[in-house]
Amino acid sequence: SHPDFKLNTGALLPAVGFGTWQASEEDTYKAVLAALEAGYRHIDTAAIYRNEGAVGRAINDSKVPRSEIFVTTKLWCTQHTTPEKALDQSLSRLGLEYVDLYLIHWPVMLRTEHAVDGNLLIIPVRPDGSRDVDVENWNFVKTWELMQELPQTGKTKAIGVSNFSINNLKEILRPELGLAVPSVNQIEIHPQLPQEELIKFCASEGIVVEAYSPLGSTGSPLLTDPEISAVAEKYQVQPAQVLINWGVSRGYVVLPKSVTPTRIESNFKHVNLTPEDVEKVSRIIDRIGGKRYVDPNWKPFEAFV
Ligand code: A2P
Repeated sequence: SHPDFKLNTGALLPAVGFGTWQASEEDTYKAVLAALEAGYRHIDTAAIYRNEGAVGRAINDSKVPRSEIFVTTKLWCTQHTTPEKALDQSLSRLGLEYVDLYLIHWPVMLRTEHAVDGNLLIIPVRPDGSRDVDVENWNFVKTWELMQELPQTGKTKAIGVSNFSINNLKEILRPELGLAVPSVNQIEIHPQLPQEELIKFCASEGIVVEAYSPLGSTGSPLLTDPEISAVAEKYQVQPAQVLINWGVSRGYVVLPKSVTPTRIESNFKHVNLTPEDVEKVSRIIDRIGGKRYVDPNWKPFEAFV
């Protein structure tokens, strides 16, 4: 089976977690039940996914004890000034007493005026093409300071970040600040975005890395790539399993998303790739090129890279 990773809090984190981004409430409920049934004990959601309610209902309706499941949710960009309130709201939607991990979703604060229900991601574009985002009056270092207070409330067991670059991490880790080291940095990783430097930096700081969009997200060319398919055939598994286990072999947590029960089940199966096959998958980028699936042109997020 898959290994566990140890957080800097001492908690164990299962290497393959269940991703729920881009899954509707209805699909999510069934998918999380299927995932728990298949053996997943690590579920990843976020306030902005708008499916926390379904995640929590599935957890509570399953026969798996809460203490055996590692649950992560994330602080959305419009709530950087009030992480505890945001966490309270997430817990209330989840119907849970606590989460195991609470992450800053992006190192960027968006103005609260944009937190219109159903429109959290819609940010006004200025005439010059830039986005109307408050980047001057708030710094994510302050958000991280506020996040520190959460573990002692018992509402989350650990805290971490997501979409943080090396520079972002260096900023919150400045020794004179004396702040906690994040337990986790969750970032996009797949063979077209291997993130070698960032992974190395996180390892040097004892930060566990988690990969989102490990299959290359919706419509990924990786799932039909001939070389990945050839490796999959050798082990008699699916390309998705090769991609998932390529990540685990490289030493980080992988969060595949699926709402299809057969895929949910097969994605959880451990495959022990040889170092040569890991290397083969790593080299695919030389042929098909790099790609980032989460919009790199979203200016406000670029501002902090
Ligand atoms: P679906 O949810 O309809 O099953 P990522 O984890 O990189 O975000 O990728 C998720 C995408 O990959 C979804 O479109 C999901 O489809 C699809 N997917 C998940 N598992 C598999 C699989 N085993 N084979 C093919 N496609 C998959």
